[in-house]
Amino acid sequence: MELASVLGLDEGRWASAVQSRRSHRAFASAPAPEALAGLEKLAKALSGREAVIEIFDMPDNPVSAGIRKGTSCFAVIGRRSDADSAFAGYTGEAFMLECEALGVGTCWAWASCDRGAAQKLLPSGYKLDCVTPLGVPNDAPRERILKPLTQLTGLSEERLAALLPWQRSALDFARIAPSAMNKQPWRFVVSDGVAAARRSGLLFAAHDCGIAALHLELGARAEGENITPRVI
Ligand SMILES: Cc1cc2nc3c(=O)[nH]c(=O)nc-3n(C[C@H](O)[C@H](O)[C@H](O)COP(=O)(O)O)c2cc1C
Repeated sequence: MELASVLGLDEGRWASAVQSRRSHRAFASAPAPEALAGLEKLAKALSGREAVIEIFDMPDNPVSAGIRKGTSCFAVIGRRSDADSAFAGYTGEAFMLECEALGVGTCWAWASCDRGAAQKLLPSGYKLDCVTPLGVPNDAPRERILKPLTQLTGLSEERLAALLPWQRSALDFARIAPSAMNKQPWRFVVSDGVAAARRSGLLFAAHDCGIAALHLELGARAEGENITPRVI
């Protein structure tokens, strides 16, 4: 599946956000009004494709209390009822990276939310994908073990060392993408101007591969190559 590129919106900022982004689950406060205004604008620009993103500030909100300490602000991410969840992963991650660029902490959350309540906040025709708390981070990121690129590509160290700069950059960006329970349910392929994340059979693999596809695209662009991201 080819993803309708969201790049051209703000990708220069997202390349560095990829490096610093981690999941946050406790916050000093809600985002500053200027940051929220920027996020509202981006959410609007990203919505209306296969996915939709809406921002709310409600004390009684659907994000589990354990991951929203210190903020009542959150975003709900949905996908068109007939769309693959890879679209929501790809689009939602662009939003998460903009949050990071604006100093707003996020955490993709599926298990840690009241899904019935979150679904009710979406426009009709959209299915809940995930929610995220939004706030100024006030926690240290949890330890995270990342799979090596040899395992994620099936390539030897020698073959990895011989890749073109854009291919290596795409892989390095994708390797640090967030995934449900940090399962990293992907296998990456880079060749001939195409980078693809192959999904496994795990729950949320399509969604996670959509996230990784955006990282692949941003990594390639960081080395001057415009590629077509795919989830296959
Ligand atoms: C689709 C998806 C669902 C997630 N659901 C939850 C969740 O319900 N609760 C939670 O605490 N973290 C959740 N996470 C965050 C992951 O645990 C986190 O991304 C992963 O451990 C990697 O850590 P990092 O985001 O700091 O790189 C989710 C992540 C993704 C991509």
